[in-house]
Formats: sequence, C-alpha cells, structure tokens
Amino acid sequence: MNPIDRLRELERRAEEGGGAERLKKQHEAGKLTARERMELLFDSGSFEEVDKLVTHRCRDFGMDAQVIPGDGVVTGHGRVNGRVAYAFAQDFTVFGGSLSETNAAKICKIMDMAVRNGCPVVGLNDSGGARIQEGVVSLGGYADIFLRNTLASGVVPQISAIMGPCAGGAVYSPAITDFTIMVKESSYMFVTGPEVIKTVTHEDVTKEALGGAMTHNEKSGVAHFAVENDQECLALIRELLSFMPGNNLDDAPRKVTDDAPDREDEALDQLVPSSPNQPYDMLDLIHTIADEGYFLEVHQHYARNIVVGFARLGGRPVGIVANQPAHLAGTLDIDASVKGARFVRFCDAFNIPLVTFEDVPGFLPGTVQEYGGIIRHGAKLLYAFAEATVPKVTVITRKAYGGAYCVMASKHIRTDFNYAWPTAEIAVMGAEGAVNILYKREIEKAADPAAVRAQKVAEFREKFANPYVAAEKGFVDEVILPRTTRRRLIQALATLEGKRDRNPPKKHGNIPL
Ligand code: HXC
Repeated sequence: MNPIDRLRELERRAEEGGGAERLKKQHEAGKLTARERMELLFDSGSFEEVDKLVTHRCRDFGMDAQVIPGDGVVTGHGRVNGRVAYAFAQDFTVFGGSLSETNAAKICKIMDMAVRNGCPVVGLNDSGGARIQEGVVSLGGYADIFLRNTLASGVVPQISAIMGPCAGGAVYSPAITDFTIMVKESSYMFVTGPEVIKTVTHEDVTKEALGGAMTHNEKSGVAHFAVENDQECLALIRELLSFMPGNNLDDAPRKVTDDAPDREDEALDQLVPSSPNQPYDMLDLIHTIADEGYFLEVHQHYARNIVVGFARLGGRPVGIVANQPAHLAGTLDIDASVKGARFVRFCDAFNIPLVTFEDVPGFLPGTVQEYGGIIRHGAKLLYAFAEATVPKVTVITRKAYGGAYCVMASKHIRTDFNYAWPTAEIAVMGAEGAVNILYKREIEKAADPAAVRAQKVAEFREKFANPYVAAEKGFVDEVILPRTTRRRLIQALATLEGKRDRNPPKKHGNIPL
C-alpha cells in the first residue's frame, strides 16, 4: 500500500470508531457520535485531532484482535468563539467509551497542553467506566486524570458534559471540574448503580431517578445545567465559555453592545413591594440591568433561594449572586450557601467581577439546617466572599439582616462598592423579631398587647428598617435610586478596572469544607 493510502486507511478506521452498527445504535439512542460532538463544540472546521492513531496495549481477553485506532476517545483542540480550547470526547462505540491506559494518556496529554497554553478543557463524557479487560492500569489512568483536574483547577476553566453513562469513580473527574452539564434522558451519574444499591440497602431505584439529569440538577446539585439533547449541550458549552477567560491570568472577553450604559428603568423603583413580607422576583432586577437583558443562570434548578449566573454589564462579563425572595423568602440555607460559595470562588479564580444583589432575612432556621451543619456551610459563603479579590459591588434591595448581612459581600469583607436602594432595611433582625425581644415584658403587661406591639414595630421600622443608619456609618457608600442601578454598576466596575488586591501569602487557605 502506498504511504498516502496507508495513512488514509488508518484514519478511516479511526473515524469508523466501533463500526457502522454501533454508530447506528448511538444515533438511535438519540446521541451524536464523539466526532459529531467535536464538530458542534468547535467553530466550524477548526477542530484538529490529536492522537488519532493511538491504540491500546491490552493483550488479554482476545483484545489483541480488537484494536481500533483512537481507542475510544477523541481528543484535540480547536476554536470556540474564535478562542483556542482543548477537548476530549469519549467514544461509546469503541468498548463502550471505557477508559484504557492509553485512552487516559490521551486525555492527560491534552489536559497538559491546555494548562501549558492557558486554554479551557472540555470533557464530553460517555463511558462504561474503567476498561474491564485492563484492570488496575485503567484505574491508574483515572487517578492520573483526577490529579490533572485538581492541578488545573483555578488555572484554566474546566467544563464537563455528561452525554451518556458516567459511573463509579469516573464521576470524580466531572466533580472536580468547574461546571457539569447533563443531557436529559441519555445521561446518568452515580457512584454505585441501582443493582448494588438493591443488594446493600434494599432500595429500588431506577438509573434515571438515581442519577439522571434532573436528579443532579434539582436534588444533589452535582450538575449545574440540564439540557434537552446533545446539540443544546454543545451550544451551551460554547455560550458558557464566552463568559470566561482562557486562564487565570487573562481577563474574560468583552462583547460590544448597543445597550446604553446609562439606560434607566423606572419600573425598578416599584419592584420592591411595600409589605416587607411580600416576595418579588429577583430575576426581574437581573434581567433589567443586564446588557440586552441576558442572564445565563447557573444551577437554575438547585437551591433556588439564591440565584447565581453570568451576565454582561457594558460588555464586560460579571458573575451575579442574588438572594431570591420569591423562594424560601431568600433565606440562606445549606444548599444555597454551598451553591453561592462555589460560584463566587469560580469568578474570583478567573478574574470575573462579582455583583451581589441582597435581600436576605437571615439563615433558614430549623433542626434540619443546624444538624446538617449550616454553621460550617454558611461559613463557606462568608469565606468565599471574604477571600475574593476581584472587583466586588453589592446592591441591597431590601432586607440585610443579621449574620447574613455580613456574609453577602458586605463592606466589612472588602467589597468595593456597597449600594442600597431606599427600600433597604439593614438591621440585626426584622422589626417584628426585634420588638418581641426588646419589648417582651412591656407587651405582655399592656392592656392591649397587639396595639403596643404594632406601635413598637412601627417605631422600630421607622428608626432602623432603612439604609440610612448604615449609610451614616459608611457601611453603605451610597443610597441609589433603583432605576439607576445599571448605570451605577457599570460606573463602579469601570472605576475598578485597575483593582489590585491580594491575600496574604500562604500555601492555601482552609475553607470550612
Ligand atoms: C470494557 C465495556 C465497558 C467497560 C461497556 N463496554 N462497558 N467494555 N469495559 N467498562 C462495552 C460492552 O461490552 C459493549 O461491547 C459496549 O461497550 C456497549 O455496552 P452495552 O452494555 O452493550 O451498552 P448498554 O446496554 O448501553 O450499557 C451501557 C453500560 C454497560 C450501562 C455502561 O455497558 C455497563 O454496565 N458496563 C459496565 C460498567 C462498569 O461496571 N464499569 C466499571 C465500573 S468501575 P460490544 O462489543 O458488545 O459492543 C469503574 C471504576 C472507575 O469505572 C474507578 C475510577 C477511580
């Protein structure tokens, strides 16, 4: 065979993967093949494959007769929105996408290249786990990947898509990465599957209920996004990457916008209801102030009492963290604290400014929360905001009570600009709670306790349930008209362009895990 034909033949065999029959099965399962996924992930025609001809080295179980160039994972680089990124896509048609020694080495190679060149890594997971025929070398391959995931954390963004099975120890690679996206119905993640669970705990559970996309988006918080199909998944990865820099030394790319930086919206003046206990939707505020009203919400289905996600202000990507009064009154609980903390740390690691919208009546009370360690978990959010050195701007829209006031990017933990709306109430606790403690005896003794309580609540409100006491102390830099929020945020961020802040030198902090 002439040399050109030989190369063509090898490439053809690699591209054929597990063969026509298995490719057909992949499509019938509603899934794209590994190479089709790469084509959609990267800008058209930009994907360059690496290690296409790598084969496994296993000679047991008749594996010497089954050698497929590429060995079950497609790796390489290309451009996403014009910027270089690296990716691997497990090919389920080749030995179920299982991880062999050489297959792991391919993944490690592109991860090393990504870190060396300061570019994101995207992992498209679709695999039956460790290559059973290879035994311990496959396990070693996983550990090699986990180490790289850990070392790359905070250096280059890492995104995992789960587009098929991802079980056993294999789940720990996505778990270490920054964002996990799951495709509905075709993906699942679990450490131990339904059969083992049945034997050990006698529970009956389906794969979908145990580790499907919505389970991990709503219940466990393991996944950050749920999408309908492969196409949506790959489009979302592209979108997500558009908000982040290639590495921790770069700034996130800016986008030219026609949306005027000084755009005002009078409706914001009426957003906060007159009754302090009436909810409103914080997303209305976020959509109103963001460039073109666009907000990419992260963890949309999990711990909905806090909202996190990306938007742009004056073309510049920002990370938004906001209490959500429309859910659990915007209280902070364990899940919300962990969700918020992880997002804050991502933004801080990658130089993405943080904008915090605050309306928090406090931490969620109850034995479930206390026994579950709300002290430890709430501390994560406090720690994350306090250690963050990126530009930080906070807007208090309504309640900022108690410890939650301190936690939510208060002035005291190095927030650069703290604004409050005139509707803000910054106090140790709400008026009702305060009056019940301060005037307990007086109220009990009164001829008309309800009237005395109402009067005391009104007095307390007038005196403390406003932003002016905090503004007098400089804890709030300025009380702003709600309609001007977008303009104020953009101006604040512009003045913080050159911000330089750093934490004391140390090996690493000890965030309360
Ligand atoms: C080698 C594997 C494989 C594996 C699947 N295949 N998993 N080959 N090693 N781990 C092969 C199958 O033999 C089959 O080959 C092809 O892939 C497709 O598999 P099917 O079973 O036909 O597909 P499906 O019915 O869709 O089921 C998918 C599956 C199932 C649920 C993933 O294959 C499965 O249970 N596989 C084993 C999962 C597992 O126990 N893995 C090890 C876990 S331990 P043919 O030739 O028929 O097409 C682990 C530890 C990691 O991963 C530890 C890290 C620290």
